[in-house]
Parts: sequence; C-alpha cells; structure tokens
Amino acid sequence: MKVLINGAQGRMGQMAQTALHNHLDFEIVAKTGRKDNLAQAIQDSKAEIVIDLTSSDSAYQNTLTIIKAKAHPIIGSTGFTEEQLTELKTLCKEQKLGGMIVPNFSLGAVLMIHFAKEAARYFQHAEIIEAHHENKKDAPSGTALKTAQEIASIRKNIALPVETTEILPGARGGSLDTIPIHSIRLPGILASQKVIFGSMGETLTLSHDTVNCDCYIPGLILACKAVSGLSELVYGLESVLISR
Ligand SMILES: NC(=O)c1ccc[n+]([C@@H]2O[C@H](COP(=O)([O-])OP(=O)(O)OC[C@H]3O[C@@H](n4cnc5c(N)ncnc54)[C@H](OP(=O)(O)O)[C@@H]3O)[C@@H](O)[C@H]2O)c1
Repeated sequence: MKVLINGAQGRMGQMAQTALHNHLDFEIVAKTGRKDNLAQAIQDSKAEIVIDLTSSDSAYQNTLTIIKAKAHPIIGSTGFTEEQLTELKTLCKEQKLGGMIVPNFSLGAVLMIHFAKEAARYFQHAEIIEAHHENKKDAPSGTALKTAQEIASIRKNIALPVETTEILPGARGGSLDTIPIHSIRLPGILASQKVIFGSMGETLTLSHDTVNCDCYIPGLILACKAVSGLSELVYGLESVLISR
C-alpha cells in the first residue's frame, strides 16, 4: 500500500521512515511537513494510508483532510477532544473508511494498560507515576490519562484516598476519578510509567520504560497492516492488538 508520512522530518516521522523503509507491504510515496499542502500531496501521491506524526495543534485538522481525501488515517499525534473524536468517527463511519488514532504505538505500554485493568479488579487503590523528557509540553501524558480512565472504568467499589492536607499544593498530584497521577519532566528520560496498586499488606507495581523510539516500530507496522481491513475509525492500538 502507498503510504504518506506527515511530519516526516520529526523524531516520530523518522521512526516511521525507518519502520516502513524496504517493508514489502508498504511503499512510502510522500513525506510532508509544515510547509506542504497535505490535501494536494495525498492527491498527487495517490497515498492510501496517511500517517500523521505532527503535533497536537494540527492533528485534528490533518485528520479531517485525510478523511476528506478518502485515505486511511493513522494518527500518532495526541490531543483530541471528545467532541473532535466523535466527529471524526462519524465521518469515517459515513464513508466506511478504516482509520486509527493511536496515542501510543508501544506494544509494552498498551499491554501495561491491559494488565492494569486486570489488576484493578482486585485492587481498589492505584496511583500512577509517569516520567518524560523535559521538552514534553503536556502533563500528564495521554498514556497516564488513558491508564487512569481504564482503571476507573473497571473498579466496582472505588476506594477514595484518605483526604490529605497538601502542605505544598499539588503534592498529591493530579487526580482522575480519584486516581492520583504524578508527572516528572527531566532530561535523561525518554518515557516511562509505573502503575502502583495497593491493598492490605501488599503492593503490585506495573512498570514500563521506553529506551528509544524503536519501541514504536512494531505497533506502527501493526496499525498499517490493520487499517485497511477496518471500516471505522478506532482509538488505540489495543483495538487490533488485544482480542476481547
Ligand atoms: N503515538 C505515539 O506512540 C507517540 C509517541 C511519541 C510522540 N507522539 C506524538 O507524535 C507527535 C510528533 O512527535 P515528535 O516527537 O516526532 O515531534 P517533533 O520531533 O517535533 O516532530 C514533529 C514534526 O511535525 C512537523 N509539523 C508540526 N506541525 C505540522 C503541521 N501542521 N503540518 C505538518 N507538519 C507539521 C514538525 O515540523 P517543524 O519542525 O517545522 O515544526 C516536525 O517535523 C506529537 O504529537 C507527539 O505527542 C506520539
């Protein structure tokens, strides 16, 4: 299949080029960036799949452009609102067009969320610590938010953390559905997350570390292989990775 990579010169765009370079199933027919006209480039290159790895500011508009061009979107950029997601899903459904929004291409991170959901059946208390490089602009990470949402969705009797007086505001982190999330931003770190479950006399810790951007390659290939077989826009790699 013919693939266009948008944001090709960025960190993730270069990872995508590495992933698809010389892959028998895919041909990179265009590499675009901020200065290019995406709609025109899709038309000229006859791209069937468009991978967007740009920024949260442009991801929604780019996805609209890709859908209108009837190419399969694979969106790695993060930062969609619920309203935007609903609109994009409706557009794809109307066209029976397969697409994927993948906030995390790392198989390990996707599996960590899956395992966290399992643990949440048995542990009522959970906290998340995520750490990223100093240039990450948003906090907490999309993966941390998704983990908290999934844990919250599975817990039957949510245990409220005991109320604490914060001597320093924010000391207990941000909170999603009573699950505290703590964000660290430091040089020397790429991306990592720990989910710590607590119960009587024991803790269970799930830990995931990203060593370099190669961790996204298997997930990106998986998405490229799966997207043309879909007839709607799906969210998250787990929709094609984990059979329910
Ligand atoms: N799904 C995942 O697994 C995953 C993992 C890591 C990161 N991400 C996300 O992927 C995106 C890219 O991350 P990155 O680390 O590769 O960032 P990056 O190194 O800054 O690269 C972004 C690239 O996109 C280009 N760009 C920005 N706005 C654009 C637009 N409107 N149209 C076309 N190209 C545009 C940039 O060009 P300029 O240099 O000219 O601005 C740059 O070449 C971010 O949204 C990030 O949050 C996703």
